Amino acid sequence: MSQLFSPLSLGQVTLDNRIIIAPMCQYSANNGAASDWHTIHLGQLSLSGAGLLILEATAVNPEGRISYGDLGLWNNETQQALGKSLKAVRQYSPMPIGIQLAHAGRKASTGKPWEDIGAIAPDDVNGWQTLAPSAIAYDANSPVPKAMSQDDIDSLIKDFVSAAKRADELGLDLIELHGAHGYLLHQFLSPLSNKRDDNYGGSLENRMRLLLDVFKAVRAVFPSEKAVGVRISATDWVEGGWDLDQSIVLSKALDELGCDFIHVSTAGLSPEQQIPVKPNFQVPFATA
Ligand SMILES: Cc1cc2nc3c(=O)[nH]c(=O)nc-3n(C[C@H](O)[C@H](O)[C@H](O)COP(=O)(O)O)c2cc1C
Repeated sequence: MSQLFSPLSLGQVTLDNRIIIAPMCQYSANNGAASDWHTIHLGQLSLSGAGLLILEATAVNPEGRISYGDLGLWNNETQQALGKSLKAVRQYSPMPIGIQLAHAGRKASTGKPWEDIGAIAPDDVNGWQTLAPSAIAYDANSPVPKAMSQDDIDSLIKDFVSAAKRADELGLDLIELHGAHGYLLHQFLSPLSNKRDDNYGGSLENRMRLLLDVFKAVRAVFPSEKAVGVRISATDWVEGGWDLDQSIVLSKALDELGCDFIHVSTAGLSPEQQIPVKPNFQVPFATA
């Protein structure tokens, strides 16, 4: 049998094959609630025969959405709406389904990609004040985020925990924490976006702290027979930024905490990135 079509275990979750549908934002939710689009979109993907379907980046609180159309899982309304789509999907597909839990940090509060309006100001009806490790904007066109206080950090961890519990109640098999592509957890990891001088900034150990704390808190409330993993950007592709060596230290620390998988991507943290795109360019990072 080919490697691709052989089973793969992520913790105690066994996939029939190794084709995994990566999370893909749809920007088609209403106040975080899944719409009929999600039922149709997830429905067709769930009939593809892939071994696992991972739901799009799903915000753990409203400020964590990239755009105002992002999917969320922060209250009963968002949970019920997603439950409705999943119920329809499950009626016809036995495919295991995971969810990517996310917070966009300083890259939040934008229009939908096809609107082509980019960042939306906090005082606009579809915008809000963004949060980040430090008050450093993503680029010249993005609003300056508020540096998170300890209270902001504590409530963020609670929001991840609450979303993880809701994901379990929805019968989801797996959680992927979004630590990649320049979103909040990645912003804490990278020395380019994290200039804090408290326990969450400075040394590598400190920059990894938030992601590890979120991982521990989520792992503690999500049933052990279900998988929890992390998506990372293994490099910022910027000199002096987050890189492969730090990613390996992080991966080992996550492994010690019982992390079931690392989903390896790259980039997204800085507009300065220089990506040498060629076929399979991300594979060596996953191998390492
Ligand atoms: C429409 C679209 C939405 C995406 N949304 C997400 C997302 O929500 N979370 C994420 O980690 N990656 C997201 N990505 C990146 C994909 O998961 C994936 O990494 C990318 O398409 C490259 O595919 P590959 O990893 O198979 O090379 C998105 C990509 C596309 C095309």
